[in-house]
Amino acid sequence: MFAGQPSDEAMLAELYDLEHDEITEDFAFYREWARRHPGTVVDLGCGSGRLFRPLLDGGATRIVGVDGSPALLTRAAARIAADTWLAAADAAGRIHTVVGDVRAPAVSERFALAVMAGVVAHLDGPEAAVRALTRAGQLLAPGGVLIVDTLGPGGWPPHDLPLSVDWQRRMGERRVVRRSQLSRKATPEGLRVDYETLTDLMEADGTIMRLPAGFRLWYPSISAIVALAAEAKLEVEAVFGSHDLESLDERSERCIVVLRGATGGPGMG
Ligand SMILES: C[S@@+](CC[C@H](N)C(=O)[O-])C[C@H]1O[C@@H](n2cnc3c(N)ncnc32)[C@H](O)[C@@H]1O
Repeated sequence: MFAGQPSDEAMLAELYDLEHDEITEDFAFYREWARRHPGTVVDLGCGSGRLFRPLLDGGATRIVGVDGSPALLTRAAARIAADTWLAAADAAGRIHTVVGDVRAPAVSERFALAVMAGVVAHLDGPEAAVRALTRAGQLLAPGGVLIVDTLGPGGWPPHDLPLSVDWQRRMGERRVVRRSQLSRKATPEGLRVDYETLTDLMEADGTIMRLPAGFRLWYPSISAIVALAAEAKLEVEAVFGSHDLESLDERSERCIVVLRGATGGPGMG
């Protein structure tokens, strides 16, 4: 029995957490960069605040999380409330979230560290990325750095995929089955991927709620990121192919670029 449903933002946000919350392999990396750049942190495209804890653990004095999804920020509030340590930091005024577009966030302070983790893929392409990088650069305090963390070439889908099951999990009483299909197109600035997902939530009584969703993702190549960063008046400080600081090559699962304001550019005064 099918209960065809329109996409439900809160439900999609809960499913997002079900899929992403188990990712912890980057925590030590973000703890370390917060330690290296003591002070305030802006987490651009923070989602449900997955990185808040490692950033605070690393010594961030205050975190401003910006995300375009109010539903994910509601889940960030739930995450904070459920964690006594995060709740104490929040009560002390050390966590602030704001709904906004990373291309034009309504944030006026400057930060020692800016993080854009898993976000560039969701931007429309180079033009949107330059706007986001330019704005992020303007948010840097002198000496501050911006970390752009995206899927590396070793993690890019190698070919189109027909509809197939990605995973099955439990969410409370429900059984969740996620299927997806993708089509990809190589472009000079990286890889464009159209994903269509079908998520079935099966209730104990056999009712199925089906949530269809579509995403257009863009995985920029390292050369595209470096060129866009230069346009945004940012200079490359370091490039890594993993959160363990391995060098970037064709097999790298991540492409992590640490940027700072170019001389005379944003973040330099
Ligand atoms: C893959 S998630 C990463 C979340 C978080 N940074 C993490 O590492 O767990 C991408 C996030 O970027 C947000 N996002 C995408 N485009 C955005 C935009 N233009 N402005 C603000 N947020 C955006 C999405 O809402 C989503 O929360």
